[in-house]
Amino acid sequence: MLNLPKKVTIIEVGPRDGLQNEKLFVPTEIKKQFISKLKKAGLKEMELTSFVSPKWVPQMADAAEITADCLDADSLNIVLAPNRNGINRVYAANCHAVAVFVGVSNSFNLKNINKSTQDSMAELKPIIHELKEKNYFVRACISTAFYCPYEGKIAETETLRLCREFVEAGVDELSVADTIGMAAPNEAYSLFSTLTEQFTDILLTAHFHDTRKLGLANIFASLQAGISRFDTSAGGLGGCPFAPGASGNTATEDVVYMLERMGIDTGIDLDKLMEAIEVVRPHLSREIDSGYYRLHTKS
Ligand code: HMG
Ligand code: MG
Repeated sequence: MLNLPKKVTIIEVGPRDGLQNEKLFVPTEIKKQFISKLKKAGLKEMELTSFVSPKWVPQMADAAEITADCLDADSLNIVLAPNRNGINRVYAANCHAVAVFVGVSNSFNLKNINKSTQDSMAELKPIIHELKEKNYFVRACISTAFYCPYEGKIAETETLRLCREFVEAGVDELSVADTIGMAAPNEAYSLFSTLTEQFTDILLTAHFHDTRKLGLANIFASLQAGISRFDTSAGGLGGCPFAPGASGNTATEDVVYMLERMGIDTGIDLDKLMEAIEVVRPHLSREIDSGYYRLHTKS
């Protein structure tokens, strides 16, 4: 018998992961409309933007403007921040859900946040404590949980160790990522089965980049492991600028289509999701090639 939940939560990462790697600056107004339309499509949890260095990631330079306009009481509006500087900017922006991010791989962290894993955790642990004291929702994004573009295969024990550090630091959610889209479904099943066994009091989310088109298979394997929360990106946009070879996240529309066809409720309206993609599409430097989008626009 398949182990399938009745309901799945989709965390839309398009406005952040989806756009951060876009070559041409997407106008702030367009980003705001994109976010608003995604919410109208039923996406209630979303990464809006990230408070990172505009020198490192110019596309996210308008984080404060986006946040000022896009907060609402009905959604979980998440913003990313990598360090104390980012957290101070978050406090000024008045939002109440933050994602911190660290990779399991030290080499990746040196490229992505200019710090070793250990130094980054030393900076983040008191920040997480402080955020929890202020009643923030805290999500920890664990990059390179399966493979690293610089170090290759990452041992499951290493990923579990970093996850445990974050859980002990008090985060509410772990979003565990296949940054470069190299995990195979048996690896996804193995890691997420262990995570669901070991961490029963925390939200567990899977984040698959779809570089080798294994995103849907990995999501299916993770469902079997008891996961019912997935990060996805409208149009399959995305990728980390410091993870060479990574492509976009698994497309929200393909995931929603697959889940709904299996009788799993996502609460998302696919027609409205297509409208959201049409807002941002003319501003992108790439084609949208998700299966659902291609069929929808042909018909
Ligand atoms: P750094 O250059 O080492 O920073 O960058 P620094 O502390 O030495 O400061 C240098 C300058 O940057 C200073 O300004 C700081 O004020 C400024 P200056 O005095 O030269 O004018 N600065 C900042 N400005 C704005 N916001 C900040 C900030 N921090 C310092 N938060 C830093 C270190 C972490 C800032 C940089 O490496 C950075 O911004 N990295 C972010 C990279 C990134 O956004 N990657 C993508 C997100 S992660 C991801 O996509 C993976 C995920 O999807 C999961 C997966 O798929 O794996 C989550
Ligand atoms: Mg990502």
